[in-house]
Amino acid sequence: MQCIPSDTLQEFVEKARPFSRKGTVPHYIPALAKAEQTDLSVALYTKEGCVSAGDVSKRFTLQSVSKIITLALAIDDLGRTKVFEKVGMEPTGDPFNSIAKLENQTPSKPLNPMINAGALTVTHLIQGMNNEEKLERILQLVRKMANNDRITVNEYVAKSEFETANLNRSLCYFLKEHKVIDGDIEELLNLYTNQCAIELNCIDLAHIGYVLANDGINPYNGEIILSKDITRIVTTFMVTCGMYNESGEFAIKVGIPAKSGVSGAVLSSIPEKMGIGVYGPALNEKGNSIAGVRLLQSLSNQLQLNIF
Ligand code: DON
Repeated sequence: MQCIPSDTLQEFVEKARPFSRKGTVPHYIPALAKAEQTDLSVALYTKEGCVSAGDVSKRFTLQSVSKIITLALAIDDLGRTKVFEKVGMEPTGDPFNSIAKLENQTPSKPLNPMINAGALTVTHLIQGMNNEEKLERILQLVRKMANNDRITVNEYVAKSEFETANLNRSLCYFLKEHKVIDGDIEELLNLYTNQCAIELNCIDLAHIGYVLANDGINPYNGEIILSKDITRIVTTFMVTCGMYNESGEFAIKVGIPAKSGVSGAVLSSIPEKMGIGVYGPALNEKGNSIAGVRLLQSLSNQLQLNIF
């Protein structure tokens, strides 16, 4: 389906764009530091179709947005009881890559699947003969949800993160020591950094949000991609933990389920209404797109999207 550029939406983008100057692109993944600080694009899917604004040809990687996809896949593979034996359901109030709370949990288990420790644990649960097969299964789910068969991994970004992921390595060693995960840590990091480096644009992202908004069903061809139960679980995590230690403020000010990534991606899903994909690589101190959050806030106010 075509996504139509909208002048009205473009006005929202231009009002939010100046905020990008107050943020910074991430430097801990060298490939992401090359992004254009003031880029900002958005797409919005509703039953009327798709509208967009900004340079929607800009592609970016999913980063932490992929945690939604792997969580859905792991629950589909193993059932929610097995998954939540390994990872909790509670927000942390800590940064996404923090190790702090892991030490205080007995038995040791990451507090939720959206922080890095929890996401690494979930990726460890994905079924498949080898990494290639597991990654292909993750990619297939992303492609179905985005309705785009051409989506693939940006290998340059994956390699850049793999080579520098020492904090995530340390989380893995901690998790292995406490028997939350087992097996080869480099293998796990390889799969994780590849899932984070899946590349798309904001139109693809908006479609993913729209499938979630439509109970896991592709609204255009009726295909059931995720069960209603899994869709409800991942959407709930978007509300409670999707914006990390900004989730509470985001729920108050914007009031829509959303999941961010350090690439500047923000996936939003307004149940029964809409999917929104935003890309703005300059981040605030919590690791969320600074202009993207402003854009979502003004869209939510104007279109009365707040679900609470
Ligand atoms: O593991 C990491 O640190 C990154 N690949 C993903 C982190 C992320 O996107 C946090 N989001 N705001």
